[in-house]
Amino acid sequence: MPEYIVWRDEFSVRFDEIDKQHWQIIGIINEMYQCVKGNGTEDKFVEALGDLKTYTETHFAYEEGIMRLAEFPAIEEHEKLHHAMAEKTAGLFKLKLGNKSQIKEKALDFLKEWWVGHIRAKDVEYIPFVEALSAKIKNGGG
Ligand SMILES: [Fe+2]
Ligand SMILES: [Fe+2]
Repeated sequence: MPEYIVWRDEFSVRFDEIDKQHWQIIGIINEMYQCVKGNGTEDKFVEALGDLKTYTETHFAYEEGIMRLAEFPAIEEHEKLHHAMAEKTAGLFKLKLGNKSQIKEKALDFLKEWWVGHIRAKDVEYIPFVEALSAKIKNGGG
């Protein structure tokens, strides 16, 4: 079975640690998909959802820290998007997921669309600022 979300080069924000975190999150969503498609137990699905919540929060905090350091001007708007998504992800626990695979599939479609869309439309906006920060650090400037 092909991966639900296939990592593509254009997902890269040209910052290794953030790429790694995005890659991990996509991996968890793929794992959840595998569970829905019958290759995992309900316990495994809920465990993956727990991982997703934790990784999402950790990633947002890290990314916001980098954006702040890079003096990315649209940080406030970006943080609002993160905040709303963190709440939605936490809210997925409240769904009575049970064996209702239709609800799970809908939730997964939402996760897929949000993450791919956010990385490609929003995270890419900070690339020039983060690259400038990296260059400054490399050159030993303050
Ligand atoms: Fe982001
Ligand atoms: Fe991100």
